[in-house]
Amino acid sequence: MAKILLGVSGGIAAYKAVEFVRLATAAGHSLRVVMTASSRRFIGAATFEGILGSPVLTSEFEKDAMRGTFPGEELPEHEPIGHLALVESADLFLVAPASANTLAKLAHGQADSMLTTSFLACAAPRLVAPAMNDRMFSDPATTANIETLRQRGVVVIDPATGALASKGEYGVGRLPDPAGLLERVEVALRGDLSGLRVLVTAGGTREPIDPVRFIGNRSSGRMGFAIAERAAERGAEVSVIAANVALPTPPGVNRIEVETTADLAGACADAMPGCDLLLMAAAPADFRPASSSAEKLQREGDGLELELVPTADILESLSASARSGQTLVGFAAEHGGDGEGRAALKLRRKGLDLIVMNDVSDCRIGFDSRENAVTLVSEKGSSRLDRADKRVIADRILDRSLEIHRESGD
Ligand code: CTP
Repeated sequence: MAKILLGVSGGIAAYKAVEFVRLATAAGHSLRVVMTASSRRFIGAATFEGILGSPVLTSEFEKDAMRGTFPGEELPEHEPIGHLALVESADLFLVAPASANTLAKLAHGQADSMLTTSFLACAAPRLVAPAMNDRMFSDPATTANIETLRQRGVVVIDPATGALASKGEYGVGRLPDPAGLLERVEVALRGDLSGLRVLVTAGGTREPIDPVRFIGNRSSGRMGFAIAERAAERGAEVSVIAANVALPTPPGVNRIEVETTADLAGACADAMPGCDLLLMAAAPADFRPASSSAEKLQREGDGLELELVPTADILESLSASARSGQTLVGFAAEHGGDGEGRAALKLRRKGLDLIVMNDVSDCRIGFDSRENAVTLVSEKGSSRLDRADKRVIADRILDRSLEIHRESGD
């Protein structure tokens, strides 16, 4: 069972946080609560303290009688630094309700209370559940703050639509019910990809001309590795087939090394039966030298002619032999023009469920860059993901792939 740090900020929905604490405790989780000063005008700390038997903290300068431990843990001998100790051992930090003011502070990295300093120092998964009046929620400032947090990997639990606190008002801004909040927390703890076997290919293949020269491409493997990393962090069982990638293996990921398109095809054929979701981010060479010299070629004469022959299309043959329940995602590097149209044709020709298209004519993104911007193309249409860190793009690709995978399983 998990150690959950709950941050409560000022809003009428703070009363729901009490029920959340009760449910989470009953489910076997261990909790500590930090409250903003204004949340204490809505609900008393004594309520949480009564359920948990541990003190609630508001100021980062307050002494914690439990010395940063969670209920049931042994107290350390020294007095720790409050806002660092609690988040250090927490498995997850949930801010519910997250008021407009607290969201603004979190988005801007302000650290002026126990809640905000702890949030800033927290390396565990962080979730926020915005709750406020619908006009405050849809104001561009709040929307931008929520988007900033999302971009930084904070999980945003969308508010529900319904009757709001102010008399007669109806709209989006309600804090989801405590049971719904607990479900989201447990998914985040488990990982929403738990139970899913994910195969990712990454990097660019090399086709030897001789023992020292090859035909290759500029794929760095960053996008594929970001996908593998996020999939593993979200609970999937992940293998990555890496073609000439000079990046460290993401934690918990099984790595298989390959060099040529033929190696990649072989490794994919071996791994494919045991996967539910394939993300083919590698850039296999489309052509290889008809033959490669066993010895280093010497510089002789006026030139060198290389005869190139096409390599096999790996995705096409994988999709031809895929079993039902397997979801196949291809990638397409298109150069300007009607890239989306060409990607849609590729989707059909290769028998894929989704194509991730990036426009390689935009030099700010792609290849060795840490950022990317892509368009996701499926039979249902396309959606554009604006320029963002590759890990954020990876999450969106995984979200859409998971959606398609689940739909196909229904
Ligand atoms: N791909 C593959 N086997 C190849 C070449 C590409 O499986 N021999 C996969 C890539 O990993 C990618 C997708 O096919 O997921 C699209 O690759 P791309 O090179 O854009 O498509 P091609 O079919 O090679 O089309 P073209 O080069 O004509 O645009």
